[in-house]
Amino acid sequence: MRRPLVAGNWKMHGTRQSVDALLVALSQQDWPEQVELMIAPPALYIERCREALAAGPIRIGGQSCAHQAEPGALTGEISPAQLRDAGCEYVLVGHSERRTLFGESDEVVKRKFAAALACGLRPVLCVGETQAERDAGETADVIGRQLQVVLDAFGVGGLAQGVLAYEPVWAIGTGLTASPEQAQDVHAMIRARLALLDDEQARMVQIVYGGSVKADNAEALFAMPDIDGGLIGGASLNAEEFGAIARAA
Ligand code: G3P
Repeated sequence: MRRPLVAGNWKMHGTRQSVDALLVALSQQDWPEQVELMIAPPALYIERCREALAAGPIRIGGQSCAHQAEPGALTGEISPAQLRDAGCEYVLVGHSERRTLFGESDEVVKRKFAAALACGLRPVLCVGETQAERDAGETADVIGRQLQVVLDAFGVGGLAQGVLAYEPVWAIGTGLTASPEQAQDVHAMIRARLALLDDEQARMVQIVYGGSVKADNAEALFAMPDIDGGLIGGASLNAEEFGAIARAA
């Protein structure tokens, strides 16, 4: 019923040369038809990626965007309208690196979500707990708080216009993947929470998992009933591995 999404977050990696090589390798992969595919390259390379991948199934996303759609005096920012203009269809919002390293609050994340929707982008809202929060038994509370601001503003229907990504902070770039059961537990908890508000829409929301997904653990994760694909960091920089992950979905 829900189409799986496999998305690659390239983070701050790549040069024109390495991006071109990766694009050639990506265009040589066999992509599964039933899977929605997206990459989020550094903003500088978005146009390059869009042009090179135009004939294939991979869509383009931004890694972040400004918290307003209108043009303005925001040095260094890129608006969701500009991402749309450059050919993006998605944008990540609230990635844990943005929350932690750039101080993005839940309120700012909500405004980015709103601005993205207003521009016709699908926001990929990232949520997740740190190791300390998990150890303290606070996983559900932390994720509940991160979701609440967006739910208050847009309801479950608004969330369903985007994508939800569960990315436990302790699993990002660490090689420590949540086990399929650990990830499923959180995905099911999120969906149950959404279902209390709107059962029908809750069943539509794509919830993808992110955090050290690799070709050799993707299949077991994606086999879980509430895991609707993945948001892939490091492994998305290798076309063969990203292709294998997509084929596991
Ligand atoms: O957004 C993707 C992400 O943060 C996971 O990164 O390198 O652990 O797959 P990685």
